[in-house]
Order: sequence, then structure tokens, then C-alpha cells
Amino acid sequence: MNTKSVFDITGKAAIVTGGALGIGFGIVSRLVEAGAEVMVVDHDEKHLADVPNRLKIGKVRTLALDISKEDGWEKAVKACVSDFGKVDILVNNAGIYPQVPILKMEPPLLEKVLGVNLKGLVFLSKAVALQMIKQGHGGRIINIASIDSLHPSMVGLGAYDSSKGAVWSFTKNFALEMAPHRILVNAIAPGAIATEGTSKPLANSGLTEAQMKEIMDSFTKRIPLGRQGVPDDIAKVVQFLASEASDYMTGSMVVVDGGVLLA
Ligand SMILES: NC(=O)c1ccc[n+]([C@@H]2O[C@H](COP(=O)([O-])OP(=O)(O)OC[C@H]3O[C@@H](n4cnc5c(N)ncnc54)[C@H](O)[C@@H]3O)[C@@H](O)[C@H]2O)c1
Repeated sequence: MNTKSVFDITGKAAIVTGGALGIGFGIVSRLVEAGAEVMVVDHDEKHLADVPNRLKIGKVRTLALDISKEDGWEKAVKACVSDFGKVDILVNNAGIYPQVPILKMEPPLLEKVLGVNLKGLVFLSKAVALQMIKQGHGGRIINIASIDSLHPSMVGLGAYDSSKGAVWSFTKNFALEMAPHRILVNAIAPGAIATEGTSKPLANSGLTEAQMKEIMDSFTKRIPLGRQGVPDDIAKVVQFLASEASDYMTGSMVVVDGGVLLA
């Protein structure tokens, strides 16, 4: 098989959560460009409605739902099967990162973060895996974790770090359970990626936009490659994990952080 066809995913059907903005939109763009049909799932109806216009090429459908809610998981699978006939790839990207020190945290905040970042990811993965098993030809589940799954990046992300640590543990366990079905389950750990979410002050942080910029600038100085990432830095690795180029990988974490974990 030549290099081009190893990375080709023409005709594959994918679900990408949180695909309206940020890293998720970058992933949708790259998968579409590589030949996949994509069901874009997001709860931000305004930006979601605009996805087909921003992409211009390829076959995408959109589905507005909150992935932390139980009624969404089956709905996402059914929509993908009804529009594209199957599900080959799931990218669990939707995530939130409110910044609240643990000493100021109340239970609803932890429940909210775990609801989106962990519960939504786990049960959408289950719903998709059941469909992939029925289809009988394997599949790919790609979880967008974080460098915070491995090492805390800053104070105030206790809830987030708990969720992302769990995403990494879940990825390994589910990879083991799914291996007999040839469903490969891998994770990506992004470092600092400039997105809509990171450019505004983190929710509940009490920080101004200027203070937020100062924090991001000082973080950027610690990145050995000397720049923040862009969504396509993550999207290209998603394409790799969605393609035959990664056929012998499961339960792996690919760190895409410009070297910041080394710093
Ligand atoms: N940007 C970074 O520096 C960075 C670093 C490490 C990990 N990550 C992870 O990458 C992912 C994307 O981050 P981003 O910076 O692009 O975020 P972002 O805030 O720019 O975009 C997130 C998207 O997810 C959607 N979303 C959020 N909650 C949802 C829900 N309950 N249901 C459906 N959609 C929902 C939002 O509407 C938005 O479109 C997250 O999982 C995040 O934790 C980001």
C-alpha cells in the first residue's frame, strides 16, 4: 500500500463531538479533506449551523445535542447510521475546562465537568462500539484527552484534570475490551492549542482577558517549540489514528504539545 492510500479515509463515516469550534472544527475539516463523511455534534446551535458554510467541501451533517445528556448518545449513532449508513470513526473531542481552585469548588462544578468530559465520552463510546460490533468490521475511537491527563498544567484545573486523567484510564481499559472486535481506542494529549475556548477568560476564573493573555503568554514561553499549537496540529494526528497508518495501535496516547511536558 502506498503512502497516500495508507492515510486515506475515503468513504469512512465519522462522528466528531464538539465540532462546531476550536480543535473539533479543525478535526472535522481535516477528516472531510481526507475523504470521510462527518456527523458534527455540538450543543452550540449557532456555530453548529454555520459549519457546512465554513467547510464548503465534503459531506457533513450537523446534530445539535449536549453529549452529557443520556438521550444524546443513541441519537448521535442513529443520525450517523441514517445519514451515512454506518459509523467507522468516533472522535470524542467535546470538553470544558472551567478554572476553579479545589478549595472554592462545589459539587455541581465537578459533576458538570465529569458529565461532559467523562460520562458523555464513556457512554457515547459505548453506543458507538455496539454499532461497530453489529457492523462487524472494527472501527476507531479517538479520545481527545490532555497533557493534564499526565501532568497538571496550572492551578485551578482540579476538576478538569480529574476528568482528563480518567479519560486516559478509560481509553486503556476500553482498548482492552474492544481489541477482540478490532475496534482501536486511542487518545491524544494536546498541549496549549489556540482556540475559541482558550482565547476567552476561563469560566468562573475571575480573570480578565488581559490577565488570561498574560497567563497564556507565560505558558507559551515554556513551550520548547516556541509556539502554541493550532487545531490542525491535533487534527492531523486524528487523521493518522483514523487511518490504516495506525493499524497496530490501541490503548496508546499520542502527546502533541510542542514538547511542553519536557520543559
Ligand atoms: N485548547 C487547548 O489548549 C486544549 C488542550 C488540551 C486539551 N484540550 C481538549 O480539546 C478539546 C477541545 O478543546 P477546545 O479548546 O477546542 O475547546 P473550545 O471551547 O474552543 O470548543 C469546544 C467545543 O465543544 C463544544 N461542547 C462543549 N460542551 C459540549 C457538550 N456538553 N455537548 C456538545 N458539545 C459541547 C463547544 O460548544 C465547542 O464547540 C477539549 O476536550 C479540551 O479539553 C484542549
